[in-house]
Amino acid sequence: MKVYENLRDKEIIRKVNEVFYEKVYEHPWLSLYFKDVTQEFITSQQTDFITGAAGGPSKFSGRMPSNAHPHMFITEELYDLRTQLLKEAMQEVNAPIELQDFWLKLDESFKNKIVKNSLSECEKRFTTDELLIFENPDTHKKAA
Ligand code: HEM
Repeated sequence: MKVYENLRDKEIIRKVNEVFYEKVYEHPWLSLYFKDVTQEFITSQQTDFITGAAGGPSKFSGRMPSNAHPHMFITEELYDLRTQLLKEAMQEVNAPIELQDFWLKLDESFKNKIVKNSLSECEKRFTTDELLIFENPDTHKKAA
């Protein structure tokens, strides 16, 4: 995997994630899912995950994305909204196109595992887990 090797700026993945999670934590809907996780933690964890996947140092020791979200009600609308924020973050920091393509394809490959079509597809990982189910607070949408 040469994506990491080809990066002139090895800090670019962290830079993308810093801007990306700034947007996530400011977002009225997406931010609700992150209420129990600090921005610093998820920024570092996601940086380690993408860095490792791109062929860089493998520091990531968390769960694979397919096992990290079973208790979250993530609709396709929410998923696509997250992708949009990620694209904006990558463009704002001028991430190389090769990295952008790799990152978006990687995320896309987990989409089916993460997106739920109904509430019944959500399950707790542990008994202490709280299901995370939030409606889109965008009132304009509801009125339509
Ligand atoms: C709308 C979509 C998504 C939402 C709302 C979301 C939300 C979250 C939250 C809240 C956590 C923290 C969980 C915890 O610490 O208990 C998390 C962890 C994580 N997410 Fe996502 N996520 C989304 C999509 C994705 C995608 C597309 C990927 C990558 C393909 C991804 C990769 C990860 C990884 C690697 C972790 C860390 C897993 C762990 O160590 O437990 N997520 N996500």
